[in-house]
Amino acid sequence: MRNKSIRSLFLAEIFLATTAFAGSEHKNLQVLSKDISDADLKKTMEGFTEQLGVKCTFCHILEQYEKDDRPHKADARRMIKLVLDMKAKKADYFGPRVKDAVITCGVCHRGKAEPEPFIP
Ligand code: HEC
Ligand code: HEC
Repeated sequence: MRNKSIRSLFLAEIFLATTAFAGSEHKNLQVLSKDISDADLKKTMEGFTEQLGVKCTFCHILEQYEKDDRPHKADARRMIKLVLDMKAKKADYFGPRVKDAVITCGVCHRGKAEPEPFIP
């Protein structure tokens, strides 16, 4: 019984996350391109959850994605700028072998909300 309600909560969250992008006009993009397609925005946001090991609600209030109420959203904006800069200046920062797809939040975060300090 308990499992069942947890499962339906989980499904509800997936449903809400999916409808967030459908045909919506994005109201408050300050760093990402304002012309980003729904599909690319969805891929980007899902990427954040995977690369940081968090849910949408780490940065957002469900269904109010344009709002800036969650401090982690501001952190994420700084970080998006960082990654866009690393991509734009790829040739300065990285060797020619490195593909764009490698330069993500995951490079540092590796599935954690806060990158773990490396103690040799
Ligand atoms: C690590 C933080 C983070 C996570 C996790 C995250 N987002 Fe976002 N999201 C952002 C930031 C930052 C922006 C604004 C980007 C900008 O200003 O260009 C944004 C913007 C959006 C927007 C556009 C809102 C608008 O109208 O301006 C939608 C929709 C959205 N996110 C949905 C989601 C969904 C659904 C998930 C989970 C699958 C998710 N986000 C996970 C940080 C996050
Ligand atoms: C070059 C390494 C690096 C990259 C790439 C990176 N981050 Fe971070 N991130 C950090 C460090 C270090 C911290 C902790 C210090 C701080 O908050 O500035 C951090 C902190 C954060 C926090 C605050 C976490 C907390 O618990 O307070 C968020 C949210 C975040 N990053 C999101 C992102 C997102 C989203 C991306 C990809 C767009 C990203 N980061 C890419 C290094 C990185």
